Amino acid sequence: MELSEALRTTGAVREFAPEPVGDEVVGRILDLARFAPNGGNRQAWRVVVVKDPAVRSALRDSYLAGWYEYLAQVGAGLTPWAAVTDREREREAVSAATEVARRAAEGPGGFAEHLDRVPVLLVLLADLRRLATVDRDAAHYPLAGGASVYPFAWSILLAARTEGLAGVLTTMAIRDEDAVRALLQVPDELILAGILALGVPVHQPTRLTREPVSAFATVDRLDGRPFPAG
Ligand SMILES: Cc1cc2nc3c(=O)[nH]c(=O)nc-3n(C[C@H](O)[C@H](O)[C@H](O)COP(=O)(O)O)c2cc1C
Repeated sequence: MELSEALRTTGAVREFAPEPVGDEVVGRILDLARFAPNGGNRQAWRVVVVKDPAVRSALRDSYLAGWYEYLAQVGAGLTPWAAVTDREREREAVSAATEVARRAAEGPGGFAEHLDRVPVLLVLLADLRRLATVDRDAAHYPLAGGASVYPFAWSILLAARTEGLAGVLTTMAIRDEDAVRALLQVPDELILAGILALGVPVHQPTRLTREPVSAFATVDRLDGRPFPAG
């Protein structure tokens, strides 16, 4: 597959065929992903390949805790956990999460409720001792550290396609990070960056919805003319 096509068509996949994925395949994916760019080449990522059904179930429960809060906030018209937001509205919205969970329990469940059954679950951690965080001391929300880990996650998703697999990076379980850390015996110096779910896709999305370049790129100043012109 052309690189340009892969970049246009690697959408989030949350539905997987039941086929298992061998360790050698996952090994090859990680072997490609390790070439991802990262600050100072400190390679702060760590990966836990979760196989134990009990650990998988616990991860699913941690995911669900965040998932229902997410749905409750979306339902209230909020961007969930936006760094800049109306905290009062957010608190109000999140208080509806129990009700969202109760309603979800009446249905068949989706990706979140069945996360434990995803063929491959990779917990992605970041070692804070190695993470180049140039905005660590900024007054605003620090963002730069993630840039040393999430390109690696994206490379995992792209590499998965070379194996006929697909998946999604998830971050919901971070809401329950202490439980995940305890579950996986992760020391304080490492934080949870996400959980990657991978498998053989039931459908591979090919038409992703994104804004055109002119909607987010401008010339010389943020309020400059749109780029490209016309
Ligand atoms: C940082 C990040 C966090 C995400 N967290 C979740 C998540 O917790 N659960 C989930 O189902 N999808 C998650 N996604 C996937 C996004 O929902 C998905 O990339 C987005 O909706 C665009 O979907 P598309 O690529 O299929 O168009 C996450 C993606 C990123 C990059």
